[in-house]
Amino acid sequence: MSNLLIYNARLVDENTDAYGALLVSNGKILSVCKSDFCTEASAVKLADGIFSDSADPVELFDAKGLVLTPAFIDLHVHLRYPGQTQKEDLNSGLHATAAGGFGTVVAMPNTNPVVSDAELALKIEKEAEEIGLTKVFQTVSLTKNFEGKDVSHLKEIDAKRIPVITEDGHDVLSSSVMLDAMKLAAEKGAVVSCHSEDPELALKAKPYRAAALEIMKIYGLSAWGHFVESEKEISPETFTEIDSNLTAANSLLAIAEDSATYRNILLAKEAGCHVHIAHCSTKNSIEIVRAAKKEGINVTCEVTPHHLALTGDTEPMIRALVNPPLRHEEDRLALIEALRDGTADVISTDHAPHTADDKAAGAPGFTGAETAFAVCNTVLVKEQGFTPQKLSQLMSANPARILGLKKGLLEPGYDADFALLDPEKRWKVRSADFKSKGKASPFEGEELIGKVQGLILDGKMISL
Ligand code: DOR
Repeated sequence: MSNLLIYNARLVDENTDAYGALLVSNGKILSVCKSDFCTEASAVKLADGIFSDSADPVELFDAKGLVLTPAFIDLHVHLRYPGQTQKEDLNSGLHATAAGGFGTVVAMPNTNPVVSDAELALKIEKEAEEIGLTKVFQTVSLTKNFEGKDVSHLKEIDAKRIPVITEDGHDVLSSSVMLDAMKLAAEKGAVVSCHSEDPELALKAKPYRAAALEIMKIYGLSAWGHFVESEKEISPETFTEIDSNLTAANSLLAIAEDSATYRNILLAKEAGCHVHIAHCSTKNSIEIVRAAKKEGINVTCEVTPHHLALTGDTEPMIRALVNPPLRHEEDRLALIEALRDGTADVISTDHAPHTADDKAAGAPGFTGAETAFAVCNTVLVKEQGFTPQKLSQLMSANPARILGLKKGLLEPGYDADFALLDPEKRWKVRSADFKSKGKASPFEGEELIGKVQGLILDGKMISL
């Protein structure tokens, strides 16, 4: 039995923004006291009163100057394990997520091999648990080995341990197969997270990206929006050629997203499953989700920090390759409004680490776990007037609800997973300092506001 009293904290969750103290016993929140306990003596007195029957010592933590908030929960990360450990491994990935303030993450199955059976998923979860940092829920692919045909492996799934299934990285081409997968998910009570992207339209976009990349490689231009001075002179015509190819790819990928979002929601309605639209990035897709919610369809939706902060129609960000691509300002604003009005439920990072070589060869995705809170605090709270409570709802309470966990709130009986934050601290992103092996951040060199200063999991302080 271990007891912990955190005092002098600014307690922030979906419902609370108040100074106070929080008592933890055996990994769970025992009580929350909303008033100032400024001296250690008064905190000790409080602890003595509450733990008077307990022989176990009470550890005290003075959180002066810090926000104590439920640890973040990320429904979408790539830990690249097994088989892609040159990009990330469980150890580096979970040090990165812990540094980002995440107590729980959902790991994608686009690994090598693809995670297509419950046994492998549970093995990964167990190995992650042994590391003793962020808790991992491993997803299983919708179709066996991403082959787009067989969904029979889903019969083995226990949704308590594997709450989310997904084909992330791409979509399921056949609507009939997707419907079968969704029907099994409905039976099991698992959430189907959809990388909504019509595979045939995505294929059509490929040659445009390839043409742009070929020229970018000649001039040594980065594929993550970090402006690199080229040693060779680049003519305006060359830039136009690169950017017009990328624009052509991006418009195809916008229709690919919108049409697939619509299809996936229709299929989920028919199957009666909970569909979660991953990394929603366009105004049209958001409208589709909004209409579906109004109709009472069981749909939730996530947006990423990079789609909230950045647009991709001008240089250098047009050359920052990610799926879905960075969009236009009207899309970005639509995502922000969707978070504000509840159309979008959660912020997920889509942390997608790659090696520098893979990135240069055009691998899409950014490393994002370690900048997520700062980006969202800067864009949503500081620029867009979201309250810290709302941000906590989007990064903790709502993802916990989707996973069916007793996490994400500062309430008695909830798991004692907390992030300690300094929401005013300004810092410059230096990807060389990331715990993640992936260094491709579109925020490299940017000043952001808000820093994760600590993490407490199961009532125990984690050293970051
Ligand atoms: O940009 C992306 N990268 N989007 C995805 O959906 C997959 C991810 C990856 O696995 O690298």
